[in-house]
This record gives sequence, C-alpha cells and structure tokens, in this order.
Amino acid sequence: MTRSSLIVAPSILAADFAHLADEAQAVEGAADWLHVDVMDNHFVPNLTIGRPVVQSLRKATHLPFDVHLMITDPDRWAIGYAEAGAHNVTFHAEACADPARLAAELRAAGSQAGLAIDRDTPVEPYLEILPHFDLILIMTIKAGFGGQRFLPEMLDKVRVARRHIDAGHLHLRVEVDGGIDADTIAAAAEAGADTFVAGTAVFGADDPTEAVRRLRATAERAG
Ligand code: DX5
Ligand code: ZN
Repeated sequence: MTRSSLIVAPSILAADFAHLADEAQAVEGAADWLHVDVMDNHFVPNLTIGRPVVQSLRKATHLPFDVHLMITDPDRWAIGYAEAGAHNVTFHAEACADPARLAAELRAAGSQAGLAIDRDTPVEPYLEILPHFDLILIMTIKAGFGGQRFLPEMLDKVRVARRHIDAGHLHLRVEVDGGIDADTIAAAAEAGADTFVAGTAVFGADDPTEAVRRLRATAERAG
C-alpha cells in the first residue's frame, strides 16, 4: 500500500482567539496545515469564526489553511473560503444535497475539496463520490466542540474509507478530527488515517511545536 506522507493540522479552535496570528506562527515550524473550524450555531450549536477572520489570518502565516465548515448551506458559503485563500475547504455531507457538485465548484475556485462525515453518519453511501474529493474527514467525535473524548469506534469508518481508496487507487487524504492526542493518534494511523487534526493536544500543551513533533513521530511509527 502506498501512503502519502503524514500531515498534522493543529486546530485553532483550541488557540487564544485574541492572538490568532501569534498562535498560528507558534506552530509554523512544525505543523503542515492549520485547521480552521468554522461553526455557525445552526449546523452545530457552537459559534466560531467566519470568512473575515480567515481572510485576515491568511496574511499572518504561511501555513496552508485546512478549513472545516460545520455550517448549514455550504453551497452558499464554501466558495468564499476558497476565494479567501484556503488550501482545502471541507464541508459536511449531512449539510449538502449534491456534494460532488460542490466539490467541483471548490476545485474550480482554486482550492481542494474535502468531505466531512459526522459521528452518526455512515461512510458507505459516500464512497462512490470520493473521486470528486481530495480529502475525506472522518469525525472521531460529534462535531461542534473541542476537547471531547476520542471515539475509537469511528475508526471502522477510517478503515472502510482507506480500503476503498487503496483498492481504487484514489488520490485522497483520510483525515481524523476530534480527541486526537499522544494516546489516540497511533490507533488512527493504524486504521489508515494520514492527516491528523489536533486542537487541545497542541494548543493546550506547554510547547505547541514540540507537541506537533511528538504527534507526528507517534503517527509515523504506527502508520
Ligand atoms: C470540533 C472540531 C475539531 C476540534 C478538535 O468539532 O472540528 O477540529 O478543534 O479539537 P480537539 O483536538 O481538542 O478534540
Ligand atoms: Zn475540525
């Protein structure tokens, strides 16, 4: 099995929102992407940031933005994040009637396209549209809040996605998001994830850069 190199994406949801530029720069030396959680108080009960913050933050760091839209009506809003310079825009399968079409629009707007699968959503119905995407994000918690406990039973979905991707020789990353830390990242890597979001485990650490390095090393050993 060929596996692309691992990516660690610290989530700024766990960072100090009054100092986002500093927090992003603090992990620039070790992180691959910066994970940006957009929540709208409708798709999830929580509320975070939107396009103006993403646009401003874009000028403050070289890290590619891995934008995770936890919003209703991504058909209306997702393209704006591609235009704001996101490397990747991931929207939720549960919020979109025609995910393949929106993925094509995102690619046309210059970003990569990601499909997110929340805790209570099976992955099987979406396997056949994966060729339209650059990434599938398997939630390992219920989307909405940082700092939740990792749900190991979600790794079955990671295995199903990984098997389908490898069997079809698809070029797609498998990302996990939620409760990823030094204790859980190995199991996610073994299941077939190659892209790891970590909020609390990075920005809650005394040394965020060192935390990213340790997470990567642990995932590399396991994967
Ligand atoms: C939650 C977000 C996650 C969150 C992860 O819905 O999608 O990206 O920041 O935070 P931790 O790593 O603390 O579980
Ligand atoms: Zn996220």
